[in-house]
Amino acid sequence: MQKASRSTFLGASLGLVTAVTLAATALAAPPVPADPAKGRRLAERWCATCHLVSADQKAASADAPSFQALANAPGRTADGLADFLTLPGTTHSRMPDLALSRVEIDDVTAYIATLKK
Ligand code: HEC
Repeated sequence: MQKASRSTFLGASLGLVTAVTLAATALAAPPVPADPAKGRRLAERWCATCHLVSADQKAASADAPSFQALANAPGRTADGLADFLTLPGTTHSRMPDLALSRVEIDDVTAYIATLKK
């Protein structure tokens, strides 16, 4: 009886060690680096109807800030942009909910960051 419960305990702790090791491995995996070139293509396709997304774009909607202005606004950080794009519609109701994925958001904010002077 004592023997059986000891091996159950051993089995359970081994399982726990494996789970913790797997979780640590998943956390340590390098994240996919943001790709500003992809972000630019995405911006030209999804944002350019309203925003000036690059210096060579000529016309956009008057009430949407240009990406250049966004990039250079004082106090504006890539994290802040990503947060805005993660939670659209909550504070900026005139901007449509584009339902971008986390990776798309990272790409587009990386692209906007390249416009910083
Ligand atoms: C249908 C028009 C429209 C489209 C498409 C659009 N936006 Fe906007 N966006 C706006 C308007 C209008 C504003 C300014 C008013 C506001 O903040 O609601 C704005 C504001 C923003 C802001 C600034 C918010 C702030 O805190 O001042 C960011 C960042 C932004 N847009 C990013 C994007 C990105 C990235 C895309 C493409 C993936 C995009 N927008 C597509 C209309 C649009």
